[in-house]
Amino acid sequence: MNVAAPAAAAPEVLLALANVESAYGPIKAIRGVSLEVRRGEIATVLGSNGAGKSTILKTISGIIDPRRGTIEFKGTQIASRDPSDIVRMGLSHVPEGREVFPLLSVRDNLLMGAYTRGDRDAVARDMELVYGYFPILKERAAQDAGLLSGGQQQMLAISRALMAQPELILLDEPSLGLSPKLTKEIFEIVVRINRERGTTILLVEQNANMALNAADYGYVLENGRIVMEDRCDRLREKDDIKEFYLGMKEAGVRGERRWKKKKTWR
Ligand SMILES: Nc1ncnc2c1ncn2[C@@H]1O[C@H](COP(=O)(O)OP(=O)(O)OP(=O)(O)O)[C@@H](O)[C@H]1O
Ligand SMILES: [Mg+2]
Repeated sequence: MNVAAPAAAAPEVLLALANVESAYGPIKAIRGVSLEVRRGEIATVLGSNGAGKSTILKTISGIIDPRRGTIEFKGTQIASRDPSDIVRMGLSHVPEGREVFPLLSVRDNLLMGAYTRGDRDAVARDMELVYGYFPILKERAAQDAGLLSGGQQQMLAISRALMAQPELILLDEPSLGLSPKLTKEIFEIVVRINRERGTTILLVEQNANMALNAADYGYVLENGRIVMEDRCDRLREKDDIKEFYLGMKEAGVRGERRWKKKKTWR
């Protein structure tokens, strides 16, 4: 038997953006963004405040229509589609600032995440599954979501996205406003969800340290353009990344001093 072993199949590209441009009126927020997310990986987009990270996610999930470019999810064009169709295809978005429904109970917030599904028994099972990842949500199931702490609301927002049984989760700055300890806890669970459920994740973050440790592949976004991309283990070794994203002393406060310095990426 002299048959050569087949080459390992390249991982499937689950999401591909090509030359995507989005704007708010006259303000161009992203300028020709191209990126790929492969099935099963955690990909990250790093960038300072205003770089365009949230705009990329909003454009993918259909909240904003792009001016140009293409967005393929599982081989289908989704640019400018209705957001609820995109959720039904298996793509869920955890927005910046969590945006839970404050006057609904934790449990009802989770059920809102499953609104596209008709399989009630499976929904009940998935609720137990998310309670397994975040037991505090089970304890608080009957409480109004508005009464939860910031960290618990982030847990709820991630859980609500999971309730739609997504193949891909878009996660917008889960560290926002959280203590380093809570940020670490949430990142650990995000990695577990990826490893245990095989859920693909596209994470955008200002917290480069956490993101580069959690993710497999990373893109650096500056002024609406991707200026660098590589495997995260390699990005962590690059001087520019060390200096501008990992070298800062004060962590956890967004948007000031550490982002002021500008330079050309190499
Ligand atoms: N609703 C809006 N109307 C007008 N301009 C906007 C709007 N939202 C964002 N922008 C602008 O678009 C650009 C990109 O914003 P975006 O929110 O995508 O950045 P970001 O990388 O997510 O920043 P942050 O880390 O602060 O969340 C910024 O210049 C911002 O001022
Ligand atoms: Mg943002």
